[in-house]
Amino acid sequence: MKLAIIGGSLLKEFDSFTKVTEERINTPYGTPSDNFVTGNINDMEVVYLNRHGFKHHISPHQVNYKANMFVLKILEITHVIAITAVGGISEKMSPMKCVIPDQLIDYTHGRAQTFNDGNENSVNHIDFSYPFDDFLSVKLTQAIEMNDFDCESQATYGVTQGPRLETVAEIKRMERDGCDIVGMTAMPEASLARELELKYANLSLVVNWAAGKGGDIHDVPKIISLEEINQRIVDGNKIIEKVVNKITTMLD
Ligand code: HPA
Repeated sequence: MKLAIIGGSLLKEFDSFTKVTEERINTPYGTPSDNFVTGNINDMEVVYLNRHGFKHHISPHQVNYKANMFVLKILEITHVIAITAVGGISEKMSPMKCVIPDQLIDYTHGRAQTFNDGNENSVNHIDFSYPFDDFLSVKLTQAIEMNDFDCESQATYGVTQGPRLETVAEIKRMERDGCDIVGMTAMPEASLARELELKYANLSLVVNWAAGKGGDIHDVPKIISLEEINQRIVDGNKIIEKVVNKITTMLD
């Protein structure tokens, strides 16, 4: 097993990661979000990338997902843990909960989303019935529970285009579709990982109630507080770091 961790708004940096090398790698698909850092967590070698870049300047719809995932393949990564901050739609998905989604619905558009679009490949399809790797997802759930953090491990992640948050009507539609959480970056990351035969799982932290959720909107028109989201990202970072720390002691 060779593990990569993709951070975003969460896990921009973490103390338990000891950096060994840092490489800038270009690809036929363009430039990845940033340098790929190889280091150790608890004696396990891990490759780390932040999809928004270390300056956090690349919006979800502008990330070069193809370049990012292609470099992981070049580096002979076998397993990927993707960290994302999400909004909570269904009742159980309250702020500061960890969620390991087992399904997703893709609402994004206009993103370069497949390696199977060039001349070098004939028409090619992948099975994507179960978008997340079961083994890694179970391990992540165990790592969360061993830390005594709240965890939901059955959830559908709705992936929106961003960078704006959703309207109340959009979230109602997503709820009718069966989405439990909403974020902006799980696609096309997850399907590109599948195309490259990388085992990919998602560790999400709920940082806000999605638009119109978490209160009676009929009494008080409620909007999402970005300050609150930012504070939860700061606080949640410690949770995510502990989970990542734990899982590296549970994998060979
Ligand atoms: N919507 C989409 N993406 C998000 C949200 C949200 O409410 N919160 C964090 N990422």
